[in-house]
Amino acid sequence: MTRPADVCRFNNRGNGIIGAFETQTDRSMSDKKLWAGRFTEPTDAFVEAFTASVEFDQRLAPQDIQGSIAHATMLARQGILSEDERTAIVKGLNLILDRIENGDFDWSVELEDVHMNIEAALTEAIGEAGKKLHTGRSRNDQVATDVRLWLRQELQQLESELQRLQRALLDIAEREAETILPGFTHLQTAQPITFGHHMMAWFEMLERDGSRLQDCRQRMNRMPLGAAALAGTTYPIDREFTASLLGFDGPCRNSLDAVSDRDFAIEFSAAASILMMHLSRMSEELIIWSSAQFGFVTLSDSFCTGSSIMPQKKNPDVPELIRGKTGRVYGHLMALLTLMKSQPLAYNKDNQEDKEPLFDTVDNLRGSLKVFADMIPAISCNPERMRAAALQGFATATDLADYLVRQGLPFRDAHEVVGRSVAYCVQKGCDLADLSLDELREFSDRIEADVFDCLTLEGSVAARKHIGGTAPEQVREAIREARQRLQEGA
Ligand code: ARG
Repeated sequence: MTRPADVCRFNNRGNGIIGAFETQTDRSMSDKKLWAGRFTEPTDAFVEAFTASVEFDQRLAPQDIQGSIAHATMLARQGILSEDERTAIVKGLNLILDRIENGDFDWSVELEDVHMNIEAALTEAIGEAGKKLHTGRSRNDQVATDVRLWLRQELQQLESELQRLQRALLDIAEREAETILPGFTHLQTAQPITFGHHMMAWFEMLERDGSRLQDCRQRMNRMPLGAAALAGTTYPIDREFTASLLGFDGPCRNSLDAVSDRDFAIEFSAAASILMMHLSRMSEELIIWSSAQFGFVTLSDSFCTGSSIMPQKKNPDVPELIRGKTGRVYGHLMALLTLMKSQPLAYNKDNQEDKEPLFDTVDNLRGSLKVFADMIPAISCNPERMRAAALQGFATATDLADYLVRQGLPFRDAHEVVGRSVAYCVQKGCDLADLSLDELREFSDRIEADVFDCLTLEGSVAARKHIGGTAPEQVREAIREARQRLQEGA
């Protein structure tokens, strides 16, 4: 069959699959369509390409086959298929899987999607028994099952990649538990913090992401098969059995909901969006910190690129790209929400549009997590630069106010005293710790010689030693607890 140029262009997304379509030239359409019975005219060539999903949903082939094998096994157990038919189907499907994995399978756009391509190939390979596989099943419950199986597997991989990144953060937090840098609010110097503490803040963000992914994986682990097109089926099927074969916690409770629900995809995309937002924030800090002006950290050369014109440049492309990719992941969440918002029950063809956003989200999230987990251990810190920065901007002003409170001054008055001292320092061009005791006592006679202990950076961080504080000893404790949680959760 020759394909009009516009049809080819429509489907050509650069992965070469259309090439495979074009090699399928000789079978007439009515021969191939599995639903051709009630049709008298062939499908318009452009409509055929427009409605097909095989170009992208062939990615679900392993799950489609896994689901079909479980379905056939259940049908045979219930006496709906014979044992011989089941054996032939399972063998045939496994051979098809081998062919697909070896790149030796001709995907046909005329057969629309992964499900009908595989079913047609099965019948071609084993004859009559292949035609019985679809008994008591519809593509509606089939596709809903395939996507869940696929996402469940991907989620497990994403979760372990996320844990690798979390472990990398714990290692760097431990290494830099005592390294002091300025902590910011409004990107203005606020108070000294430890780098380990900052890494542990990132860790906390990611730990919540991990539990969201886990939550999503658990909630989606119910099986649509058996819902058939929408209302269930007249065969004496055993859904519990099929569910157990496929590792689901049980069948979906309502057949209409089973075929139409895509909440799991939306939930995953929302969790992925939050996770990408976190990676983007982390990226933003790495970009700022690695600039010449900050110089807090140096990213390894293997995660940066140069400029074609400026010989001195070393650009933080990896964090920049992750920051950029965050937008497309948010976009996919919006696409999925919008996809579902007006659909009446039960299945509608709209749902075919769930796959590309979902696949792209998983691919980009997985890539971002992997590269981040590889990049973090290769970061080197520049403690001198961090320290020098922490010594600017009166990072210990709050410590002086707290000191005055300990000396009996109400906090509001202490705030006022320190404010005036800072203004004096600004004029003089020095830090609070550079003032003499006499100069300090000009602002309050409650100030004694021991004030200098709390004006140092080390004194400032060490004093914040409660749960969740930045003191090195507290950071080490937080790391210890986090390692344990990670261990228990893994
Ligand atoms: N390719 C379709 C999808 O991805 C499979 C289900 C089609 N069902 C149907 N009744 N047209 O959703």
